[in-house]
Amino acid sequence: MAVGIFDSGLGGLTVYREIRALMPDLPLVYYGDNAHAPYGVRDADDIYDLTCKGAQRLFDAGCDLVILACNTASAAALRRMQENWVPADKRVLGVFVPLIEALTERSWGDNSPPREVDTKHVALFATPSTVASRAFQRELAFRAVGVDVEAQPCGGLVDAIEDGDMILAEALVRSHVDALKRRMPHPQAAILGCTHYPLMAEAFQDALGKDVKVFSQGKIVARSLQDYLQRHPEMRGPGQKSMFLTTGDPQTVSDQATRFLKREIRFQSA
Ligand code: DGL
Repeated sequence: MAVGIFDSGLGGLTVYREIRALMPDLPLVYYGDNAHAPYGVRDADDIYDLTCKGAQRLFDAGCDLVILACNTASAAALRRMQENWVPADKRVLGVFVPLIEALTERSWGDNSPPREVDTKHVALFATPSTVASRAFQRELAFRAVGVDVEAQPCGGLVDAIEDGDMILAEALVRSHVDALKRRMPHPQAAILGCTHYPLMAEAFQDALGKDVKVFSQGKIVARSLQDYLQRHPEMRGPGQKSMFLTTGDPQTVSDQATRFLKREIRFQSA
């Protein structure tokens, strides 16, 4: 029954906690590639190789469906994986499309032509690699017209979160929001386009001001996974056991994860 959740590190836990809240009985296997985080400064080939390795480990752990709870991997590697690598009886899905469907007020899988939407000025905060890929703008253009997107690469933020340096992380959020606002003074909505960033959601909301609607992926992805599993019950894999795997140091990663999720999380070596 298990479903796999992949991230470069701790960020995917923001997706994990919402899936867990919505589907408490679903076995979930989490894989954090903490030894190689951050991905956001790596090139596409490197991200592809690391993401395939993580997804394979999740298949081996009894997952037939793997969610890439990592925008950087979704942007840089997902399409290539789906075209060349994912076995016919397995699925790998990303976190981009459900978010854009929510922003453009579409229901799941609505492939009708792009149309005008209410939100016209959107700030995107993401890793340098996700911003450079322009994957967000490409997916948005399939669904909406006339939306102005200003993207801010948030260099350093994933490193600070992975290191547990929240003072530095808050300072970085403020400076990245300031930089964005110099180019787009009044965004209507802000997308947290990296699954690490919801751990700093309050800092983003404070810096952006209360009138800006901040979108993050946890709940949106959890709902679309629930919907997907209802339509594809065969994609619940044979694995029965929930576990947390890391390529990093299990003790350090467990301590950080426990602090972020405010409950005991025990990682083991991948
Ligand atoms: N959580 C990953 C994302 O959503 C962070 C990528 C990184 O390691 O830089 O993009």
